Amino acid sequence: MWRERRRQPPPQLRLLVAAAMVVVVGALASAAEAALQVGFYQDKCPIAEDVVLEEMRLILMEDATLAPSLLRMHYHDCFVQGCDGSIMLRSRKGKTTERDALPNRSIRGFDAIERIKARLETVCPLIVSCADIIAVAARDAVYLSHGPWYDVETGRRDGNVTVAEYVENDLPPPDSNIVDVKTFFSVKSLNSKDIAVLFGCHSIGTSHCGPIQKRLYNFTGNMDQDPSLSPAYAAELKKLCPPPRPGAGDEGGGEGKTKVPMDPGSNYTFDLSYYRHVLATGGLFQSDASLLDDPVTRDYVEKVAKALSPDEYYADFAVAMVKMGRTDVLVGDLGEIRPTCGIFVD
Ligand code: HEM
Ligand SMILES: *[C@@H]1O[C@H](CO)[C@@H](O)[C@H](O)[C@H]1NC(C)=O
Ligand SMILES: *[C@@H]1O[C@H](CO)[C@@H](O)[C@H](O)[C@H]1NC(C)=O
Ligand SMILES: *[C@@H]1O[C@H](CO)[C@@H](O)[C@H](O)[C@H]1NC(C)=O
Ligand SMILES: *[C@@H]1O[C@H](CO)[C@@H](O)[C@H](O)[C@H]1NC(C)=O
Repeated sequence: MWRERRRQPPPQLRLLVAAAMVVVVGALASAAEAALQVGFYQDKCPIAEDVVLEEMRLILMEDATLAPSLLRMHYHDCFVQGCDGSIMLRSRKGKTTERDALPNRSIRGFDAIERIKARLETVCPLIVSCADIIAVAARDAVYLSHGPWYDVETGRRDGNVTVAEYVENDLPPPDSNIVDVKTFFSVKSLNSKDIAVLFGCHSIGTSHCGPIQKRLYNFTGNMDQDPSLSPAYAAELKKLCPPPRPGAGDEGGGEGKTKVPMDPGSNYTFDLSYYRHVLATGGLFQSDASLLDDPVTRDYVEKVAKALSPDEYYADFAVAMVKMGRTDVLVGDLGEIRPTCGIFVD
């Protein structure tokens, strides 16, 4: 299946890339689309993607819960300042980076990415960007969770601009309605179908109680429950997530230890059950439930929930992930390749 990734890009495409690199500078977005390609490391580091997959197998053998975490990292990297690996940078000299911006973002897997990077530095020093490692690791995480394989475009370079505030400006919060979600995603050139498809990422992994406390206990401020949540599922969630105790650190979103599955019963397996879950129960977050409030996203949820084969969804997923992976990327001479993802070069 993954022999595919050794495929040479067609010569026309490579020509296009070369041309784009000359013309560019100002027109970042279009150049980016032209310059990313499947198999970018073919010549400079042909084993790059094999190394990532091999390390990912080892990493997930040690901790299977890192699969969803690494998928999520790609989403966050892309949405905050573009897929440029800047999510990995550690704060320095009193400047807070996006990584350290909000502790309640609960991003995990930084060490896993550094581990893959360290191995790649021994075989192909200063060749493979952290942004590409994150994109490939996300694909492998899906694949190793019994989801689809798809060709990942590579050729991203890393950014060293990281602004803590962007985190809040670029990522829709979990209590978003569909209008908010569409606004956040359209800024990244992702449409309603892309939203419906990408939300299927919530087929794997867990959440802390923080993001759902309001939905369970104080939806409109009158100590009520979100009516879009099915009563049976709400009762189940309330058992796992008791009411927040003020001052106990479990109200803010991510400090408490309890984790609830995003797709109960199937949170290790990347599959279509997320869509059946959303349709039947309203899903874990208000943003998941919001898919039912728009005709396009709702139709899509209903279609996938009923699908007998995952093939069509998997094909849509590949397209949407590749599209998300093009968000504001740095290519050609832009950006840099760092020896360590988390450390500024100077
Ligand atoms: C409106 C859009 C989205 C919102 C509001 C949202 C929100 C969240 C929240 C609050 C969590 C739980 C974090 C925690 O408490 O540990 C989470 C987990 C997760 N999200 Fe999203 N998300 C969105 C879109 C996406 C997309 C597009 C992807 C993939 C491309 C994604 C992948 C994941 C995964 C895999 C997890 C599980 C992480 C783990 O188990 O460590 N999310 N998301
Ligand atoms: C699935 O959810 C349970 C909590 O209900 C958790 O213990 C387990 O680690 C989760 N699996 C993954 C892969 O996140
Ligand atoms: C419920 O929400 C209202 C309005 O946001 C807030 O004033 C109140 O403090 C909340 N109550 C609890 C117990 O969190
Ligand atoms: C994280 O917590 C801060 C402070 O408690 C809050 O203002 C912010 O909205 C939270 N962010 C998310 C994404 O939940
Ligand atoms: C940031 O990256 C640029 C290349 O895009 C480089 O010229 C510059 O020195 C880097 N700055 C820092 C602080 O690492």
